[in-house]
Amino acid sequence: MRKSPKKKAAVRPAPRSKPSKVLAAKADARLLDAEKFLLPTYKRQPVILTHGRGAYVFDAGGKKYLDFLGGIAVNALGHAHPRIVETIRREAARAIHLSNLYHNAYQGPLARKLAAWSGLDRVFFANSGTEAIDGALKLARLFGRNPEETVAAPAKKHRFLTMENSFHGRTFGAISVTATEKYRLPFAPVVPGAEFVRFNDVADLESKFDDTVCAILLETIQGEGGIYPVSELFWNRARSLATQHGALLIADEIQCGLGRTGRSFAYQKFSSKPDIALVAKPLAAGLPLGAILTSEAVAAKVSPGMHGTTFGGGPLACAVALEFLKIVEDEKLLENVRAQGEELREGLAKLAAQFDFIREIRGEGLMIGVELSVDGAPFVSEAMQRGLLINCTHDFTLRFLPPFNITRAQVREFLRLFELVLATTPRQASAPDSSMSPNPARVAHAVAR
Ligand SMILES: Cc1ncc(COP(=O)(O)O)c(C=O)c1O
Repeated sequence: MRKSPKKKAAVRPAPRSKPSKVLAAKADARLLDAEKFLLPTYKRQPVILTHGRGAYVFDAGGKKYLDFLGGIAVNALGHAHPRIVETIRREAARAIHLSNLYHNAYQGPLARKLAAWSGLDRVFFANSGTEAIDGALKLARLFGRNPEETVAAPAKKHRFLTMENSFHGRTFGAISVTATEKYRLPFAPVVPGAEFVRFNDVADLESKFDDTVCAILLETIQGEGGIYPVSELFWNRARSLATQHGALLIADEIQCGLGRTGRSFAYQKFSSKPDIALVAKPLAAGLPLGAILTSEAVAAKVSPGMHGTTFGGGPLACAVALEFLKIVEDEKLLENVRAQGEELREGLAKLAAQFDFIREIRGEGLMIGVELSVDGAPFVSEAMQRGLLINCTHDFTLRFLPPFNITRAQVREFLRLFELVLATTPRQASAPDSSMSPNPARVAHAVAR
């Protein structure tokens, strides 16, 4: 039997901002340009965001929003952090781009710091998460190739084991290892060799592993799939099978890494580390930068010319990334992520007791998913009307990715706003009852706990 809501929150209409006529007209022209000239790849909210400060962003009409999406896990320091602004100003006046044919002042020191954070040895800088994924897939094929095999023939060790319910990006390599069919099937045939394993299902993993596997790829916490952490059991078995078969364990930490869980890397709650860890989103505080972190053993297979990039690892992006990592250390932000994450989860647990359509709260640190038994999209729109930015992934899971330097007062502000959103949003289509029609990741997750 379902619970009925225990307490009705005070309901008041969402405040509507009143932009000046001039601003509204300007905004309209820009929205019309966007509609007419952009490829329609996104279903965007009809608003132009113009600037941000700390945990808040503002639209063209001057309306203020509490930003609990953070550019989808990018703005880990919020907006306009003075040290980031200063670094960009300083470096932009020195050199925005040089070339990977030369050294710049920041790649080496940044690689050293990432190695220290991750426990891995070597770094390649890319421009995005998806490029880091593609590079890692290439490294896995390279690592698996027997020196006696002719390079003209496809490698015997060529299979990628990757997870159901996964998301790894939009390039051909990344969509080939991404389970969600809508991202992959329209572009088939994709890169061959990928096979999907039920997330957190050890038996399925074991049944698919053999010596033809060159890599097992997983998000340490599935992000787009609805915030599902990998279980310790599954991680340990993936690690041991990869070692046994000479394959690489690749952790996609593009969304969950670099502090989001309250640890430098999400996998650091386990006793073993991957052969490759991938990062991007928050790395350069909003500038595009991704990185492949790997071991000496993998690095030993690489020689000049095998992989490269024009923009990756440029001086401006690397200087900012180095500053980002130093700020996380100087401001003790991992501690803050843990403390505010706990505050947030406690508050959400109270709301779950109050609203029976909250089905489950998942995640760690400041990467939280709230699964509803009703369609999540109307809640995102209502939140926006009330000055709160969140998003919904996999139709029913509301996702919160606030900055690492969020304050306790801002978490409380969020909880007040979110309670109003839950109380006032009209509820639409129900999610299938998980006991009747199971989401495979959800069931595997339940089994793993
Ligand atoms: C786990 C994960 N991997 C890879 C990507 C792709 O990163 P990018 O959008 O920077 O290419 C994303 C982006 O959302 C992600 O969440």
